[in-house]
Amino acid sequence: MEAVTAAWERYAAGRTPRRTRNAAGAATWLNWTQYADHGPDESVIGGVEGRRVLEIGCGSGCNLAHLATLGAQCVGIDIAPSQREKAEKRWGHLPGLSFRTAEARDFLAAHPDSFDVVLSIFGPVWFTDPTTFLPLVRRSLTAGGVFAFSHKPPQTDRRPGERLREARAVARWDHSPHEWASLLAGACFTNITATVIDPPKGACEGTLLVRAETERHRLVEAVGTNESSGR
Ligand SMILES: C[S@@+](CC[C@H](N)C(=O)[O-])C[C@H]1O[C@@H](n2cnc3c(N)ncnc32)[C@H](O)[C@@H]1O
Repeated sequence: MEAVTAAWERYAAGRTPRRTRNAAGAATWLNWTQYADHGPDESVIGGVEGRRVLEIGCGSGCNLAHLATLGAQCVGIDIAPSQREKAEKRWGHLPGLSFRTAEARDFLAAHPDSFDVVLSIFGPVWFTDPTTFLPLVRRSLTAGGVFAFSHKPPQTDRRPGERLREARAVARWDHSPHEWASLLAGACFTNITATVIDPPKGACEGTLLVRAETERHRLVEAVGTNESSGR
C-alpha cells in the first residue's frame, strides 16, 4: 500500500490545478470527463441539497466543492495526503465539506449505510478489483442511494493487469459498459446505466460514465415482515 500511496503522491505532484473559472464563468463545476468544459453536469446524480455525498479519490476536491455549493453534505477521501492539503487550502472555507486521507476500501468498510451518493471520477473504482469493491460501495450507501463513476473506456488493445502510465505501481480494471452493468447487477445494484460519452470535436477518446442505485425497498420489506406476522 505504501508503494501505491507514493505513486499517487507522484501523480499529485505533477497535476496542474483546476482553473479558477470555467468557460461559462463559474467558480465551481462538476466535470465527469477528461476534457475541459465537456460532458454532463451534476444532473447525472439528481438533486443533492441535504444529501450526504462521498467522493472517493477526490483529488484536490474541485468536483465535490461544487456539490457543497449546491447544499450537499460532502466528504472527500483520497489516499494521497498532499491532495487533502490542496483540497483544504482551496475549498476549506465552504460549509458542508470535509476532506480526509484514507484508502477507499478501508473507509467504505468503516462507514456502512452512511451516504446517499457515492462518486468516483477517474477514482478508485478504476483502480480496485470490482468484485470486492462494489459490495463495499453498496454497503456504504443508504436505500435508494446513487453510485456514479467515470473514467476512460477500455482500450481496444488492453491487456489484463495493464499498468497506468501515470502511476506504475497501480493496476487498473478496464471494463466495457456491458461488463460494468453486469458487475453492478451481480453486486445487487439496480437502475444501471453505463455509456460512453462522445469526446469533444478533435479528440478521439470518449469517457465511460456509469450510474446505478441501491434498492429502495429495504424498509418496505421490514414493514411487510411485521404485517405478515399479524402485528
Ligand atoms: C486520476 S485522479 C482523479 C482525481 C479527481 N477525482 C479528479 O477528477 O480530478 C485519482 C485519484 O484517486 C486517488 N486514489 C487512487 N486510489 C485510491 C484509493 N484506493 N483510495 C483512495 N484514493 C485513491 C488518487 O490519489 C487520485 O487523487
